[in-house]
Amino acid sequence: MIFAVVLAGGVGSRMGNAEKPKQFLTIGGKPVLIHTIERFFVHPGFEKVIVPCVKEWKAYTSNLVEKYFPGQDRIVVIEGGSTRNETIMNAIDYIDQAGQLNEETIIVTHDSVRPFVTSRMIDDNIEAVKKYGACNTVTPATDTIVESQDGKVISNIPDRRQMFQGQTPQSFRAVTLKKAYESLTEEEKEILTDACKILVMKQVPVAMVLGEVYNIKITYPYDMRVAESLLKMTLE
Ligand code: CTP
Repeated sequence: MIFAVVLAGGVGSRMGNAEKPKQFLTIGGKPVLIHTIERFFVHPGFEKVIVPCVKEWKAYTSNLVEKYFPGQDRIVVIEGGSTRNETIMNAIDYIDQAGQLNEETIIVTHDSVRPFVTSRMIDDNIEAVKKYGACNTVTPATDTIVESQDGKVISNIPDRRQMFQGQTPQSFRAVTLKKAYESLTEEEKEILTDACKILVMKQVPVAMVLGEVYNIKITYPYDMRVAESLLKMTLE
């Protein structure tokens, strides 16, 4: 069984003083979160679309889902965790409690604040995770990536042809990810903010799926303006 997990457990502090977390801000008259859920809801591959959200915003999120998808029973709103990985673990626990967690269970995790994911990216994630067990959506780096150990002087300039930028979806066999995460020390859990990195650290292969430059993550207020423009372009 394959589950979509639309991650909405973040508070969006880099967005500044917005009155609500950025996933609830609107583009094209509709909350960003709803745009993102739609992309997964219309895809035929998913058993359920799980939406872990900030605890204090759970009722609000459920109301939004009811407003935009009235009467549906395939979208479930649950509580997120204190970190992004903990949020993913809450989704896996939900699947477990529903009696649907086994070695075959796949999760396609996606940032709720990346509303421009396409069905092509979702299809490619499903294909790659079935074949390799885990995958990350990436784009080839366009800028040269410069590495600095101390933040002052360049320590390395890697070959750009080997550099990619990580996006989402990131897809996993749920049991593999859970086991890898549970084997980490508390300190490692602090450092490993990226779910794919947990597997890379444990030498589990993670395949790459091609993303798109327009699959942006809304992070700063500027990104909301970009998102509005992108939305207009896709509607034209
Ligand atoms: N996320 C989550 N649970 C957390 C933290 C983040 O589900 N405990 C989700 C966010 O809701 C978002 C995605 O992970 O969809 C990417 O998070 P990011 O934008 O990097 O973090 P935020 O915490 O939302 O924002 P900021 O870092 O600016 O506070």
